[in-house]
Amino acid sequence: MAFPTTVRLVEVGPRDGLQNEPEPIATATKLELIDHLGAAGIRYIEAASFVSPKWVPQMADHRDVMTRLKRRDGVTYAALTPNLKGLEAALECGVEEVAVFGAASEAFSQKNINCSVAESLKRFAPVLERAREANVRVRGYVSCVLGCPYEGEIDPAKVAEVSKALYEMGCYEVSLGDTIGTGTPLKAKRMIEAVSRDIPMDKLAAHFHDTYGQALANLYAVLEEGIGVIDSAVAGLGGCPYAKGASGNVASEDVVYLLDGLGIETGIDLDKLAATGTWITQAIGRPNRSKVGVALVAK
Ligand code: HMG
Ligand code: MG
Repeated sequence: MAFPTTVRLVEVGPRDGLQNEPEPIATATKLELIDHLGAAGIRYIEAASFVSPKWVPQMADHRDVMTRLKRRDGVTYAALTPNLKGLEAALECGVEEVAVFGAASEAFSQKNINCSVAESLKRFAPVLERAREANVRVRGYVSCVLGCPYEGEIDPAKVAEVSKALYEMGCYEVSLGDTIGTGTPLKAKRMIEAVSRDIPMDKLAAHFHDTYGQALANLYAVLEEGIGVIDSAVAGLGGCPYAKGASGNVASEDVVYLLDGLGIETGIDLDKLAATGTWITQAIGRPNRSKVGVALVAK
């Protein structure tokens, strides 16, 4: 199959990128990050997470972030909402789009959201219903699509089953998460093949973490399959608090460089994005995990 001509980047840096940071990050820093990302041409930013502050303290300022961020025309600012409580709060804060998050692994579902996969789907149903009433679109995540920190190998059929359930429930797009970054290209292709038997390819997104350095190779593989939406985090920030050892998302700068080289449009200004990666990593005292970002700044 031919590569897509355009790819939509979903920037998850302010949420996935920061949620696991041990030291508190000032709300002002998060707001500045979101603003820089919009200025670099990113059109979809996952800005906050309306989860329990006991579970994820770093996202406790979700209301402040969502109400104070400087909205730019044409940019969607989204948030995670695991349940009705999270959704109601997000709606009060004027969220434009939300996401529910499930898993293809029972053990990970328990650790991450404290319920079984079946129970999580039951909890998402009223979230989708309420969001529909409020005219807010819902994205669905499936974690552990290429491996689980607790269960190891994950059957692509299980990924397909959970993805299908989210799609049929009304999620407009299903984002497939290699939460611990253990996937390799052929595995990624097989997983996408299995999921796309039930869901059109243009309703799927790739959300790959780079723990084992395979994320770009995996993305190339799924671009060949026709994937047109990619989740990434500036400077490769991130990790999931309930997946020990999981490092950052694939770096947005690296993804944009790859796509530019393939002649695939993103509408993103790579230099501005790289400058954002340099700034945020300095602001929070983290290494910049984007090779492209580091190379561009060293030029
Ligand atoms: P629970 O303890 O089973 O929930 O947690 P509960 O309903 O029994 O409530 C317990 C307490 O949490 C109560 O407070 C609730 O009010 C409060 P208390 O009475 O004890 O003071 N609570 C909330 N507070 C704020 N916002 C809410 C909310 N809900 C309940 N929405 C729950 C269940 C889902 C809430 C919890 O497990 C949780 O917050 N989990 C979030 C875990 C998380 O955020 N993980 C990281 C995101 S997922 C990820 O990173 C993967 C992804 O990137 C894709 C990939 O890479 O694979 C998306
Ligand atoms: Mg993630």
